[in-house]
Amino acid sequence: MRCTFCEKDAVLRLRHANLRLCPEHLVSRVEKEVEKAIRKFRMFVPEEKILVAVSGGKDSLGLWQILTKLGYRADGLYLDLGISGYSQRSREYAESFARDRGLRLFVVRVEDEVGAGLDEITEVLRGSPCSHCGTIKRYIMNRVAWEGGYAALATGHNLDDEAATLLGNTLRWDLAYLARQYPVLPEGRKLVRKVKPLIYLSEREMVAYCLIEGIRYIYEECPHSRGARSLFLKDILNRLEDESPSTKITFLKSFLRVHKIFPKAPEEELRDCPSCGMPTGAEGLCRFCRIKERMRERAPA
Ligand code: AMP
Ligand code: FES
Ligand code: ZN
Ligand code: ZN
Repeated sequence: MRCTFCEKDAVLRLRHANLRLCPEHLVSRVEKEVEKAIRKFRMFVPEEKILVAVSGGKDSLGLWQILTKLGYRADGLYLDLGISGYSQRSREYAESFARDRGLRLFVVRVEDEVGAGLDEITEVLRGSPCSHCGTIKRYIMNRVAWEGGYAALATGHNLDDEAATLLGNTLRWDLAYLARQYPVLPEGRKLVRKVKPLIYLSEREMVAYCLIEGIRYIYEECPHSRGARSLFLKDILNRLEDESPSTKITFLKSFLRVHKIFPKAPEEELRDCPSCGMPTGAEGLCRFCRIKERMRERAPA
């Protein structure tokens, strides 16, 4: 199988884009698609400082590599959630990536912030680990980005992630979630702009990109594994894609084209959390400080 653009052997066939790519042309396509997304959605400009949330996985480390190669000023943030058997190893991948390339990585331990890691938090507060995890991640990522004066916080959500989220939101016709599902969420008071530059790139492209660029990343998913639901939705989309290539990209791009018809929820009135000063829609403490408080209450004196 020959590369669509040159004489070399292709290593990846992308039916949805009608392309067969050699390593060199795959790398150049991936980087171009990211640049395209950044410009189309006006995510940020080269003068702005970006913070990339890196989990140690292929998407976020790949994203960090792409942004630095494209000449953006991007630092990294790794959150050590304290998930036994997982956090330590994923942290090592993020740290060695940064060390090898001389990049700046912030590491924040949830245990230092909350007094306990996610395993213990879930044991005490019950409920789904992913929901506590989501609250904690969103809060710390935003706070670190805001305190560091970053213009935007970038995450590694890819085409497969976004299409699966979109399918889930559509199946419920969740208008509020549909309105909020967009590659750029603008900044607000003490809220940093959130961007997803990998929306046009599939999981397979990111795996191939990391392999070619020599990026070592953690293969395993988090053991709490985002719930069976999102894996199930991804599987359904993969089956549709097999039958009819470009299902995912068309689904996502068509949605983004009509996105403005989804009514934006009225601006939630945000106030400062009386404890940490960060914005919250809730009365009293923000959700993060509530987790902290409940963990403190149960800690032996
Ligand atoms: P997930 O919510 O696990 O699907 O991850 C989505 C994105 O969130 C990843 O691509 C990363 O950009 C970011 N992320 C997830 N976990 C972490 C972490 N422990 N530290 C920093 N960023 C993370
Ligand atoms: Fe948050 Fe798995 S990464 S629960
Ligand atoms: Zn080629
Ligand atoms: Zn707070």
